[in-house]
Amino acid sequence: MSRKPLVVGNWKMNGSRAANAVLLAGLKEAGPWAAEVAVCVPFPYIAETALALTGLSVAYGSQDCSAHESGAYTGEVSSAMLADLGCRYAIVGHSERRAYHHESDQLVADKAKAALAHGVTPIVCVGETLAEREAGQAETVVRRQLAAVVHTLTHCIGEIVLAYEPVWAIGTGRTATPADAQAIHAVLRMQLHAATKKGDAIRILYGGSVKPDNAAELFAQADIDGGLIGGASLKAADFAAICAAANRRAAS
Ligand code: PGA
Repeated sequence: MSRKPLVVGNWKMNGSRAANAVLLAGLKEAGPWAAEVAVCVPFPYIAETALALTGLSVAYGSQDCSAHESGAYTGEVSSAMLADLGCRYAIVGHSERRAYHHESDQLVADKAKAALAHGVTPIVCVGETLAEREAGQAETVVRRQLAAVVHTLTHCIGEIVLAYEPVWAIGTGRTATPADAQAIHAVLRMQLHAATKKGDAIRILYGGSVKPDNAAELFAQADIDGGLIGGASLKAADFAAICAAANRRAAS
């Protein structure tokens, strides 16, 4: 089954109106790509990003969403609001949120459900810490994290994008080897298969120090359908080169 490669920039808490304008103009110049491309930007910049991307095939989204529908949740942003702004994607369960905001597997699953309820595709992140990997628990951890989402979304699980992001590879310059990443992706694919007949159609992205010089090798793996890119998504030339590496997968 052919899955369209997807490359998503995760800007994290970076940017300014001026810097974003330069970055988005750079992407405009570098595209279009055969792969699907998206940027997940800080909440305050979503509307302006939408304007800057008008007429381009680059999608946009957020880096989180609330599990709640609306109401007295100071500081939170609902998926209805994201849909209202035209977001196609919302990252949920990024390891930085799991670690710094104590987000549980169930909360992440509830956020994914809330996003889907408003037609926003959740990019669900899973990944083990270095200690968990060294203890031989990488598979157990990612399977547990995905299981909560599978159980909560039931028949809608086919609508998600999954991202495997080993915590020890995020922002560290230390990438999983293509073979190690592929091994976990294959485990996740099997789990999705068991949950839904559409498991083959679900895109599984790799994230963690993806750079222009390692992207092609990662994207050449059978179950790696693109990338979730942090640091390298802040430079138009680097992000464009990674998108081009996914192009080659789309063409092959
Ligand atoms: P990185 O971040 O590419 O800077 O490692 C990836 C991510 O956290 O999504």
